[in-house]
Amino acid sequence: MSEPTELNELTGLTGGPTGPAVTVIGLGRMGTPIAVAFLDAGYTVTVWNRTTARAEPLVARGAVLADTVTEAVAASPLVIAPLLDHDAVRQALGPATAALRGRTLVNLANSTPERARELSAWAVGHGASYLDGAMMALPQTVATPIGFFLYSGSPDAFATYRTELEVMAPAHHFGADPGTAEIHDLAVLGVGYAALAGFLHAAAVLDSVGTPPQVLAPLAARWLHGMAEFLPELAREAGSGAYAEGVSTIDLNRAAVDGLVDLSDSRGIAADVHAPLKALLDRRAADGHGQDSFSSVFELLRAQPASPAD
Ligand SMILES: NC(=O)c1ccc[n+]([C@@H]2O[C@H](COP(=O)([O-])OP(=O)(O)OC[C@H]3O[C@@H](n4cnc5c(N)ncnc54)[C@H](OP(=O)(O)O)[C@@H]3O)[C@@H](O)[C@H]2O)c1
Repeated sequence: MSEPTELNELTGLTGGPTGPAVTVIGLGRMGTPIAVAFLDAGYTVTVWNRTTARAEPLVARGAVLADTVTEAVAASPLVIAPLLDHDAVRQALGPATAALRGRTLVNLANSTPERARELSAWAVGHGASYLDGAMMALPQTVATPIGFFLYSGSPDAFATYRTELEVMAPAHHFGADPGTAEIHDLAVLGVGYAALAGFLHAAAVLDSVGTPPQVLAPLAARWLHGMAEFLPELAREAGSGAYAEGVSTIDLNRAAVDGLVDLSDSRGIAADVHAPLKALLDRRAADGHGQDSFSSVFELLRAQPASPAD
């Protein structure tokens, strides 16, 4: 892709990158392995970071350190920004708005749907295409089959740069609304937090009998693998509203969760993690749905349609 003439004047660059090129702005815990992944994949990688010293190991591996953020943005058609948050994106890229024209900006900072839309409008207003990304990964799982990234925003940009995006992680696009990736990110994070909070409660239960968390970890991991296998069935039931044939009823699970809360109470262990689920199961049973599948809790959680009076 060739550089616009005014941009060459602005940056002093005389031409665009000759091979596949990406720019990575922000070389923190996530930005560094992302830049490494592109270097390993043979890309020309231009980097910029507020704290320049963080770029040194990457330069030693072949990255090009831009003197200014404007030069970094101008260097590649695809600009990837794994910065701390949206304010950091605005602050870092603020001096480089003229260089954004014709570029595709991929914002990888965690945020909210509203702020993603706001940042998209800002980038598009400066002539860039915009993708909002959410990294379902840890630094060590970037560019491995374990991590995956969620995107929303320009479908054309996603199609154009899919190959580049897949260098970082398997890439999933959720539509043109730039806020959608953040909604999916938060929802999936919630699945993980519920499991991790359950693990910490279990550790507290076993601590009361002298069993260390290290013994629990492999048992819990094995159980979670089994639970993961159950997700498609849960999804099918919640998606169709067909709760009558489920193998695991509200009443059955209510007894189990009651037992968990009672055990906690009797040993002075906080039951805060499971008390909300107990309340939901109690409500479902009180409403006459005790023989429905566990998945029917979905009916209490989903947003209710507004009544005509609202
Ligand atoms: N770490 C994880 O496990 C993980 C996993 C998934 C998603 N995430 C998300 O990924 C994003 C980046 O996380 P991270 O762990 O890589 O963070 P990090 O290690 O703290 O790095 C933050 C980056 O943002 C830069 N930065 C912060 N404020 C700035 C500002 N005002 N102007 C310019 N640059 C600024 C930092 O520059 P300096 O080097 O100059 O400080 C650094 O390059 C976050 O939104 C995080 O929630 C992280």
